[in-house]
Amino acid sequence: MALVNEHFLKLQNSYLFADIAKKVNSFKITHPKDKIIRLGIGDVTRPLPEAVRTAMHKAVDDMGHKDTFHGYGPEQGYSFLIDAIIKNDYAARGISIDPSEVFVSDGAKCDTGNIGDILRHDNSIGVTDPVYPVYIDSNVMAGRTGTFKEGKWSDVVYIPCTAENRFIPDLPSRRVDILYLCYPNNPTGTTLSKDELRKWVNYALENDVIIMYDAAYEAYIQDPDIPHSIYEIKGARKVAIEFRSFSKTAGFTGVRCGYTIVPKELNGFTLDGKHISLNSLWNRRSTTKFNGTSYITQRGAEAVYSPEGKQQVKELIDYYMTNAAIMRESLLKCGLEVYGGENAPYIWLKTPGGLSSWKFFDKLLYEMKVVGTPGLGFGPSGEGYFRLTAFGDRDETLEAMERLNKI
Ligand code: MLT
Repeated sequence: MALVNEHFLKLQNSYLFADIAKKVNSFKITHPKDKIIRLGIGDVTRPLPEAVRTAMHKAVDDMGHKDTFHGYGPEQGYSFLIDAIIKNDYAARGISIDPSEVFVSDGAKCDTGNIGDILRHDNSIGVTDPVYPVYIDSNVMAGRTGTFKEGKWSDVVYIPCTAENRFIPDLPSRRVDILYLCYPNNPTGTTLSKDELRKWVNYALENDVIIMYDAAYEAYIQDPDIPHSIYEIKGARKVAIEFRSFSKTAGFTGVRCGYTIVPKELNGFTLDGKHISLNSLWNRRSTTKFNGTSYITQRGAEAVYSPEGKQQVKELIDYYMTNAAIMRESLLKCGLEVYGGENAPYIWLKTPGGLSSWKFFDKLLYEMKVVGTPGLGFGPSGEGYFRLTAFGDRDETLEAMERLNKI
C-alpha cells in the first residue's frame, strides 16, 4: 500500500492561478458573448524577440546535422549561456560569479519551488506578505508550514508589506531559518533600495538565515539606484541564493528558461553543526532530477544578450512599462490608491469602498469583464488589495482602463 504525502492534503484550494482560471471559465460558459480582458496571471503577450527566434531556428538546424547535433547537455547548462549570463548580468555590475555557481533551468517558478529539496523539513520559513504563492505552497508540500488557521500557516512568519509601511518589510519578530524575498516584488510591484536590502543581508549574516532572493522582474527596474541583484550587497554571497528568469524579460513564459545562482560560500548546517555547501547539494539534486534545459532553448536565451537581442528586449520592456504607466495614470484618475508599476510590471491597488479582494474580483469580472488577481490570494496582508498585470496587449489594456473608468 503506497501512502501519500499527506502534506499535500493541507494545501488550500488549487494553485491560485488555476483557481482564477476555473472561475473565469465558468463565467465564460454563462456569458459566452462577453469579451473578457485578462490582466490576471502575469503572462506575457508580445512575441519572442527576432534575435531569439533566429537563434532558435539555427539551433534546430544544428540538431539536424550529425556534427552539430546535441543529445544530453550538461545538467547545469551550456557554457555559452552561463558565460553570457555572468558577463552581462553580473560582471557588468561589478559582481563576480564563477561558472560553477550558475544553474540554468526551466524557470524560476520551478527552482523556487524545488530549492527546498536540499533543506530539512523543520526549518522555519519567513515570507513578506503578500507573497508569490509558490514559496508557501511548496513549503506546505514539504511539511514546513504547520497548520492553516484563520488565513495563516502556524509555522510561517508573515512579514506584512502594506501601504501603512510603504511596502517595506520590517525584520521578522520571530526567528526564521529561510527567508523569501522577491524584488521587484510580485505581487505589489514595489522595490527595495540598496540600504533596505543591506538591512536584510546583515540580518541574515548575523542570524544564519538563508535568503531565497527572487529577482525574476529585475529587468523592469527603471530607477538606477535600485539593486538588480542581491549580490550588489556586501556579504550576500554568504547568505543568498538568487533566482532569475527569461520569462518576463524576453517572452519565455512558454519557452521556459531561467537560472539560479548558488554561491560557493553559502553553507547550510547538519544537526551536529557541520557546514555543508549548498552549491554541492543543489548540483547533486540537479544532476539527479534534471537533464538540463534544451539546447534550442539555451541558444535562444543566449541571443537575449546579443546586441540585437538587448535592443529587442528593451523594446519589450518599454512596451509593458508603457502599459503600466497608462494603467497607473488611468486608475489614479479614477481616484484609486495605486502602487507599483514604476519599476515592475504589476499594479497593486487598494480596493475601493473597503470591498474584499474577492468581491472586487467578482465585480470586475461580472460588471466590467476584466480579470485581475485578488490580493488575498497572495496572503493575508493582500486582503483589500488587487493586482493587475501590465503584460497585456496595448489595445486591450486601454480598453480595460476605459471599462474601469466606471468604477
Ligand atoms: C504571476 O502572475 O504571479 C506569475 O505569472 C506567476 C509565475 O511567474 O509563475
